[in-house]
Amino acid sequence: MKKNSTSAIGIFDSGLGGLSILKEISNRLPNEELIYLADSDNAPYGEKPKEHIIEISRKNTEFLISKNCKLIVVACNTATTNAISILRNNYNIPFIGIEPAIKPAALNSKNACIGVLATKGTLSSDLFAETTKKFTSHTKVIEVEGKGIVEAIESNASNTIGFEQLLKNQLKPFVEAKIDTLVLGCTHYPFIVPQIRKCLGNEVIIIDSGFAVARQTDRILQNLQLKVITKKSQKPSLNVYTNKTSKDALLNILENLKIDQYKQFDL
Ligand code: DGL
Repeated sequence: MKKNSTSAIGIFDSGLGGLSILKEISNRLPNEELIYLADSDNAPYGEKPKEHIIEISRKNTEFLISKNCKLIVVACNTATTNAISILRNNYNIPFIGIEPAIKPAALNSKNACIGVLATKGTLSSDLFAETTKKFTSHTKVIEVEGKGIVEAIESNASNTIGFEQLLKNQLKPFVEAKIDTLVLGCTHYPFIVPQIRKCLGNEVIIIDSGFAVARQTDRILQNLQLKVITKKSQKPSLNVYTNKTSKDALLNILENLKIDQYKQFDL
């Protein structure tokens, strides 16, 4: 089937994290049809070897292509940093990826000390190493690997005392180094900003890449003449495909994001 502007934007992540990106995209592009693939069955991607992340990312891409998507947003830092060049080389569809916002954080930091919270897979990737080298020659970067955070969000357990304690222990290096800016390098993390604030206080600036991804999606659709230009009388559809996703966690996040019109399908 030929792709045209009425085809949907496809978005995938290892589960529910990419919904933080979907929300930014739907704010910026309210006339676009959206298809979201929550691959919870394979979460967390961040602990998997690169080859496995590539294989899963290919599978997700093929699913979204089978739904005739016109563009794919890899709403996952781990999949982007490990697999996006391979996806771009193998599929004839535009991809938008997401990477930790190191550059704005380094530019923004007053004390030249920033923190990056991301998965093992992202922090160990070549792309992350390149970006960090390029933009932080005068900035101290404290890297912390998130452990158990994605699992807690996926199982709707991020509001427990136990989770807060786990987070507090992990974020200690940021407190000790007195970072003034924190980069959220995983799309799941915007959902735990209140818990992060409890550990780091209100002064630390928290940056994520959601807005930049939505802006880039808009630009690319315009350049390719694939953007919906006429406002529809009906709200465009949002189809959410899930696999072994916790219904409670999904409902909680959709409610948090104020997304109430969608159709959900189990894979
Ligand atoms: N939300 C993803 C990211 O941005 C992946 C988290 C995971 O599955 O480990 O990195």
